[in-house]
This record gives sequence, structure tokens and C-alpha cells, in this order.
Amino acid sequence: MDVLSAMSDRQSARAYLSKPVKRADIEEIFNYAGQAPSAINLQPWEYVVVYGEEKNRLVQRLKKARAESKVSCGPGTENPLPDRFKNRSRQASAAMAPKIAEMGKEFNPFVEEGSCSFYGAPIAIIVTVDRIFPKIRYLDVGLSVSYLLLAAQAKGLATCPIGLISAYAQDIAEALDIPSNKEVILGIALGYADPQSPINQFKTGRENLDAYLRWYE
Ligand SMILES: Cc1cc2nc3c(=O)[nH]c(=O)nc-3n(C[C@H](O)[C@H](O)[C@H](O)COP(=O)(O)O)c2cc1C
Repeated sequence: MDVLSAMSDRQSARAYLSKPVKRADIEEIFNYAGQAPSAINLQPWEYVVVYGEEKNRLVQRLKKARAESKVSCGPGTENPLPDRFKNRSRQASAAMAPKIAEMGKEFNPFVEEGSCSFYGAPIAIIVTVDRIFPKIRYLDVGLSVSYLLLAAQAKGLATCPIGLISAYAQDIAEALDIPSNKEVILGIALGYADPQSPINQFKTGRENLDAYLRWYE
């Protein structure tokens, strides 16, 4: 698969087959994630792959943490978002809502519980960055995550980035022995998408170029 097809075909998967992912395939994907560019080649990204019994234990812990604190999916901003941003989020939710209803579930519990359980994917990935770095280095980590998502797509695998779990960073750090000098910033579900599940049968829209590109000449 060429990189442009991977970019246009990728979408977040929220239901997975139990089919295991070969360790060699996982390593190959991470080799590509490590090819991302970074400022002065710092390569600040770090990943933890969690699978099998350890993944089940992590999911149980996250579900318990969620039940106790009830964090919901949101933009993470202090001030309300301007309408143009709100509308994009609303459109994505509107595309997802009928699929969740078709599965007989309610929207918020589906997304929140689903996020905490990596949507049943066999592999849970935790992305960390050393706290020594300023926030701008998150950009470099994001580039590596992009490479990871596209490499997975090219290998016939599916992913879903999961920011919600960063609310439970302390639980994750304790469960996975992540030292306090590392910040947990993202989770990623990885596995083979269940093509039959309604939740995998919608595609989010995107703005046209004129919404985010300005020419100055
Ligand atoms: C940084 C980041 C955090 C995200 N967090 C979550 C999450 O917690 N739960 C979830 O279901 N999807 C999450 N997503 C997936 C987005 O909802 C999804 O990427 C967006 O709606 C666009 O859809 P697409 O990935 O199918 O193109 C996240 C995506 C990114 C990039």
C-alpha cells in the first residue's frame, strides 16, 4: 500500500477482532514510527506495548478509575471552543451516534468505556515523553504517532488514538512501572478491525483546503 492510500483510507476503529497480531508485525510498525523526523534528531517518543493478561489487567484498572472519577471526552481547553471547532466535533459525533445506537448502546458510556478498554483491541499502546522536554516536543511525538498509524494501516491493521486515558495517567504509570520522569500522553488501540461492526462503518469528514490553508503572495 502506498503512503497516500494509507493516509486516505485510515480511520479510527472502535471494534476489533480477537485475531492476534504477530510480534514481528508490531515491531515492524514501531520501526516505521521511529523513522519520523524530530528536532535535532532527539526522537523524544517512547512507547509501551501492552498485551495479553497485562492488557486485561490494565483495562480493569482503567475501568475502575473511570467508575470512580467519570472523565468524559472533551477538547481539554479551559475556555469554550469557538463555533467552527465545536461544529467539527459535533459533525463527527453526529456521524458516530447512529452507529452506536444501532449497537444498542448509549453514546457517552460507549466512548468512555470503549476508550478505557482500548475498544477490545488485542494490543494497547501507551505513548510517553520525558518530562525534561518542553511542550513543543509533543509535536515530534505526534509525528511519530502519525507514522505509527499509517504503518499499521499499510500492514492491514487498524488503530484508534485514545487521549481520554491520559486522565488516568497515574494509574497507568503504576500499572506499567512508568517512572515519574515520563508523562503519559496518549493511548493507542491496535489490532484487526471488525469490519462487520456498525461503529467501523462511518468515516469522519474533513474541512476543505480554504478552511485551513492561506496563501500569502
Ligand atoms: C490525540 C487524539 C486523541 C483521541 N482520543 C480519542 C479517545 O479518547 N477516544 C476515542 O474514541 N477516539 C479518540 N480519538 C479519535 C478521534 O475521535 C478521531 O481521530 C477523529 O474523530 C477523526 O476520525 P478518524 O480518526 O476516523 O479519521 C483521538 C484522536 C487523536 C488524534
